[in-house]
Amino acid sequence: MDVIKIEQHGRVVTARLHRPTVLNALNSEVMTELVAALSPLDLDPDVGCFVITGSERAFAAGADIKEMAAKSFAEMAEEDFFAGWEGFAALRTPKIAAVRGYALGGGCELAMMCDLILAGESAVFGQPEIKLGVIPGIGGTQRLTGLVGKAKAMDLILTGRTMDAREAERCGLVSRVVPDERLAQEVAEAAAAIASYGRTAVRAAREAVERALEVGLREGLLFERRTFHALFATEDQSEGMRAFLDKRAPRFTGH
Ligand code: CAA
Repeated sequence: MDVIKIEQHGRVVTARLHRPTVLNALNSEVMTELVAALSPLDLDPDVGCFVITGSERAFAAGADIKEMAAKSFAEMAEEDFFAGWEGFAALRTPKIAAVRGYALGGGCELAMMCDLILAGESAVFGQPEIKLGVIPGIGGTQRLTGLVGKAKAMDLILTGRTMDAREAERCGLVSRVVPDERLAQEVAEAAAAIASYGRTAVRAAREAVERALEVGLREGLLFERRTFHALFATEDQSEGMRAFLDKRAPRFTGH
């Protein structure tokens, strides 16, 4: 595993994103490795909880802009880009996102695919894709709206602003906020508690809670992904991503 580090302590498996030079940007390799590593463990009766985490500086700063920047609409649609993340969302073992630093774009979406988000005070959440000339593509428009409501979701997704851990807790995105240095312990205790309960009941409980948000989600996600792909037919996508990589302000034209 190059970009994911897996550790097991008792019944808890931790997957740590490890692309330090790009703030854990999520490329296809991360998606493939994460799903490949966790899928067999999902079937292992000796595993009762997953923890997904990153570094002190970044949980994940988004999907990898470099990987996407030059793609066309046809390529995005043909690859069904991001569809593999559904394999992560579908894991039945409870997943805790342990977030310090940036959880932006795909990073925020990865955290939202987990069942609980526990955050250190340094955590920063946002869906800044609009600044790149695109929209969220791994569930942001659907899950964020379900979790925090239209008012906050529109604010974050349309302005691209970020929110700190306290605001994220107030609006219902985050389960708990603790001082950064306390996060690992807090997560370990929550994960150990979940992993200690009856496997069937735990899985039933998380599926039942998920169901409360699921109605219409499948259609919503497909719609979102196709729209995301379609934006790769625009000049603004190419300009927005190119500008980020060139470290300059984008010049959007509406084309
Ligand atoms: N993709 C690729 N590379 C990224 C990245 C990303 N999402 N985020 C950061 N990096 C890279 C930077 O390019 C930089 O690389 P170099 O050292 O080679 O220049 C390195 O990580 C460090 O980043 P910065 O120098 O920018 O660090 P900073 O502390 O000044 O800023 C930041 C941190 C505010 C998070 C800034 O990096 C940033 O804005 N990142 C992009 C955030 C973003 O737009 N995320 C959404 C991506 S699109 C998406 O996720 C679509 C979707 O719905 C799935």
